[in-house]
Amino acid sequence: MASSGKLMKLVFMVPLLALVFVSTILEAAGAGNDSSSQSVFSLDRYGARGDGRHDDTHALEMAWKAACTSPRPAVVLVPDGRRYLLKLVTLHGPCKSSITLTVKGTLLASPNRADWSDNDRRHWIVFRSVNKLTVNGGGAIDGHGEKWWPHSCKINKALPCKEAPTALSFHYCNNLRVEDLKIVNSQQIHMSVEDCTNVQLARLSITAPGTSPNTDGIHITRSKDVRVTNCKIKTGDDCMSIENGTHNLHVSKVVCGPGHGISIGSLRDDNSRAEVSGITIDSVQLNGTTNGARIKTYQGGSGYAKDITFQNMIMYNVKNPIIIDQNYCDKAKPCGEQKSAVQVSNVVFRNIRGTTITKDAIKMNCSKNVPCQGITLQNINLKMQGDKGNTESTCQNAKWKKIGTVHPQPCSSTKSGDN
Ligand SMILES: *[C@@H]1O[C@H](CO)[C@@H](O)[C@H](O)[C@H]1NC(C)=O
Ligand SMILES: *[C@@H]1O[C@H](CO)[C@@H](O)[C@H](O)[C@H]1NC(C)=O
Ligand SMILES: *[C@@H]1O[C@H](CO)[C@@H](O)[C@H](O)[C@H]1NC(C)=O
Ligand SMILES: *[C@@H]1O[C@H](CO)[C@@H](O)[C@H](O)[C@H]1NC(C)=O
Repeated sequence: MASSGKLMKLVFMVPLLALVFVSTILEAAGAGNDSSSQSVFSLDRYGARGDGRHDDTHALEMAWKAACTSPRPAVVLVPDGRRYLLKLVTLHGPCKSSITLTVKGTLLASPNRADWSDNDRRHWIVFRSVNKLTVNGGGAIDGHGEKWWPHSCKINKALPCKEAPTALSFHYCNNLRVEDLKIVNSQQIHMSVEDCTNVQLARLSITAPGTSPNTDGIHITRSKDVRVTNCKIKTGDDCMSIENGTHNLHVSKVVCGPGHGISIGSLRDDNSRAEVSGITIDSVQLNGTTNGARIKTYQGGSGYAKDITFQNMIMYNVKNPIIIDQNYCDKAKPCGEQKSAVQVSNVVFRNIRGTTITKDAIKMNCSKNVPCQGITLQNINLKMQGDKGNTESTCQNAKWKKIGTVHPQPCSSTKSGDN
């Protein structure tokens, strides 16, 4: 009896142990799949509280460090259903293998502005020099921006202008994918891609109030081979801002508004050089934005913005649907006319329809010394919102051609200068 009891225990124990073993592997794999090929590093295993109140920055740093030194593809997991409070954090590469940050729960910025020193108020979560990085998971990244916005000099004119953090920054990341995330209420810019190559941004939802200051959606600079698809961006500033050093960028199926629309530039302050080329903005809808398709450059400086296509766009109640402004100035005193300029050439606006709230539907304000070259306007129909009169087009110093039906007639306004 005694020995058969032991045997019975063993018979029970072995499968039980096996079960515990298997479920440990499954848990370690996080997703339950691919346990053979990926290692999973959950924040909870590194002491994170996930209660939205205690600081979990150290837990993320430790999980990242372990994952980054893993010889196998690694996943840093932010578990579902919980909120992890973070201060400024930099996640460095290079890592030993490919690495994924899977955000299922929420990453929440510290609501305490004093957690940012004057040494670095520009960042919250930074990825630096990470090759083959993926950030995904369907969870949320919340910048707690409502704690910062009232302190912006744009909201309270009595305050000095100080920077506020960008929620997600990617610096020197090649082969980057950012997919299936909600980024909400950033302190300032929601997401910035800088000095990166081969980037895919997909299925992102970026949301902040239309009144929030400087809360650009996606900012791209000094990066090439970038694709942005299936994103919804509602913020208080540019939906996308595309700046110096962006080459071969393809944007499609993006919905913007409220916000300032899609902007190439500002290029370039302080008389320096600016280079942007190979940009396609395709299948984009804008609702209630300040601008639709915009290129803006300061006077002075040198370089080019060329080979740019805006196509298949629908605009609802946009203030400046199509605008090239080579005389951009946001200084207190006039910027003044200068001899040099960033050359704008080979720009196509094609299949663009919708409504505007001002009558200037197509505006090309180009420089006298460096006129805009090779502007094509093709199949455009822009009407006043609520049929309140005719739309117009004003132009200065632009060489353009028209294909198909273009309404309003390009450069029709009597106000316009030469073209
Ligand atoms: C495992 O992968 C399959 C197919 O990719 C997916 O449908 C399933 O939900 C995954 N299982 C878990 C536990 O995530
Ligand atoms: C813009 O990019 C060019 C080429 O990459 C670089 O030479 C220039 O310094 C950049 N300008 C500014 C203002 O950063
Ligand atoms: C545009 O935005 C307004 C206000 O948010 C909304 O009521 C309307 O349904 C939107 N229109 C389209 C076509 O998305
Ligand atoms: C072009 O910009 C200059 C400088 O900002 C401005 O004075 C001028 O009125 C603008 N022209 C048009 C047609 O809007």
